[in-house]
Amino acid sequence: HDHITSARQLSREDIETVLDRASELAADPSAVADRHEGALLGLLFFEPSTRTKMSFSAAMKRLGGDIVDMGPVDSSSVKKGESLADTVRVVEGYADALVLRHPSEGAAQMASKFVDVPLINAGDGAGQHPTQTLLDLYTIRENAGLDDVSIGIMGDLKYGRTVHSLAHALTNFDVSQHFISPESLQLPRKVRYDLHQEGSAVKEHTDLDAILPSLDVLYVTRIQRERFPDESEYREVAGEYQIDTESLSVAKEDLSVMHPLPRVDEIAYDVDETAKANYFEQAHNGVPVRMALLDLLLGGAQ
Ligand code: CP
Repeated sequence: HDHITSARQLSREDIETVLDRASELAADPSAVADRHEGALLGLLFFEPSTRTKMSFSAAMKRLGGDIVDMGPVDSSSVKKGESLADTVRVVEGYADALVLRHPSEGAAQMASKFVDVPLINAGDGAGQHPTQTLLDLYTIRENAGLDDVSIGIMGDLKYGRTVHSLAHALTNFDVSQHFISPESLQLPRKVRYDLHQEGSAVKEHTDLDAILPSLDVLYVTRIQRERFPDESEYREVAGEYQIDTESLSVAKEDLSVMHPLPRVDEIAYDVDETAKANYFEQAHNGVPVRMALLDLLLGGAQ
């Protein structure tokens, strides 16, 4: 079985297969309404989630299947000291595929070694979030296209797993990537190195204004407060790189503003009313994209 643990394992062909299927399903979700009747998706969320958990649940139900949910860590046997390896070995007996979110980087990769059913990484610490990347790519393709575009990725590039996943996946396309952050939150050295190895010229900036007029997409991220070892370090960068309609006035008319959400204060609410705001559409795209992925992994695609 295929496990989906990192965006780095996805080729351009893999990505396009999922996105094309998602486009078909978005146009006609009823075509697969009972495709996976009786199939169960196991949800193992060791960290909070709204979008990923609920859109996976919605996707599985729209395919005719259902979910089994471990629920909050505090009411599970993790509280009694059960290991992740044991937990996934047990739950694979209850479900046809597993979705795992965990605070430790590498957790999904490790857990996948213990199970035979497909295991999907729904976020591992500051590591990877590959299904977020698929819905991000779907949204970029819908609004700006995936060839000959310039994409700015801004905010917490150090701890942001959506950034680490997306940056790798974008090396499959003719995309110019610009990374905008305070110096203390630049890409980790390892991610920068891997991107170089994958042929991407990593262009880093501390000033959004200088690069904003050339961008087709601006992907804004939240400062990942929960990952800072020291709260005072968080306070030093909190509130940096906020955008509003005024700061966006120098941008291209058809700039697409994206954000994996949740936002705190990075995007002012006045941006929501503009045609540039694509972040709620982005969150909604999680359903057809995860339907497409589950359909392919569960062997139902025709
Ligand atoms: N974008 C995202 O992963 O959101 P949640 O943490 O709410 O799942």
